[in-house]
Amino acid sequence: MVATSTVVDEILEWKTRRNAVILAHHYQDAEIQDIADSVGDSLELARIAQQFDGEAIAFCGVKFMAETAKVLNPTRTVVLPDLHAGCSLVDSCPVEGVRAFRRKNPDYVVVSYINTSVEVKAESDILCTSRNAVKVVNSIPANKPILFLPDINLGNYVKAQTGRQNMKIWQGACIVHATFPARRLAATRAEHPQALVASHPECPSDVLRMSDFIGSTSAIIDWCTSQAADEFIIMTESGVRYSLEKLSPGKKFYFVANENCNCSECPYMRMNTLEKLRDCLATLEPRIELPAEIMRRALLPIERMLAV
Ligand code: 13P
Ligand code: SF4
Repeated sequence: MVATSTVVDEILEWKTRRNAVILAHHYQDAEIQDIADSVGDSLELARIAQQFDGEAIAFCGVKFMAETAKVLNPTRTVVLPDLHAGCSLVDSCPVEGVRAFRRKNPDYVVVSYINTSVEVKAESDILCTSRNAVKVVNSIPANKPILFLPDINLGNYVKAQTGRQNMKIWQGACIVHATFPARRLAATRAEHPQALVASHPECPSDVLRMSDFIGSTSAIIDWCTSQAADEFIIMTESGVRYSLEKLSPGKKFYFVANENCNCSECPYMRMNTLEKLRDCLATLEPRIELPAEIMRRALLPIERMLAV
């Protein structure tokens, strides 16, 4: 405990010295969320990064989120506590495959989920997050064919919501959400029959069909807070428990273990620690460095999304 409070003091000290802001995704450990200036979903954090005018951003999330912040702040320093904090969706979509698709299908509009590498963003027409994906797809003229990448479950959900037929979907998946089995959700529902189900759209379609609400991490938190019900089954990463319980202390939240880790934690998100956060503020390493040309090309699809 003593050691932790010392680390917290050091983080605050370095944050001031660096004129930095600490941004944290909802999937971070509670102690990181506590010390962050802002906690949010990927869209909210991108918006905050867009408005930032300090000198450094310490991004407590995964690499693609920190890269997005860097593209929006090319002259500022962006550090990530652990550079190995990747994402299975990013890994499932190599840029060569996207370039090959574009060469063969020049008429397609490429809509990329923010969970992609900066190189894939640079090949995209517009970005989206789980919060605005339906809106983004609806903003594209109906006669234009779309490639949606890389998440198959989010893509299928968006296709069903928009009724869009001329939409191809990449076959990528999240190792956390895509491995939540519907039978485990059914068992949890049988144990807690009064509970409402809130799911992230990266979950498989059979899980989504059993859900009362589908939305991004912040949308799930907002929805559960606004409901009169007392019990909820939450089909996303368990880091959201911290905000859910803070905002609704009287309510109960149940999480379902997936088949990948038999837990509901993202192994990449959880690589960040308070100690690594302190060190990255102190040394300004590891920092996100990207080629200027890639940043220039990735900025346009990000800005198009933020304007939708
Ligand atoms: P959000 O857009 O809800 O923050 O989700 C990001 C993510 O990585 C989900 O697994
Ligand atoms: Fe990527 Fe899934 Fe982790 Fe989100 S939860 S960062 S999609 S691996």
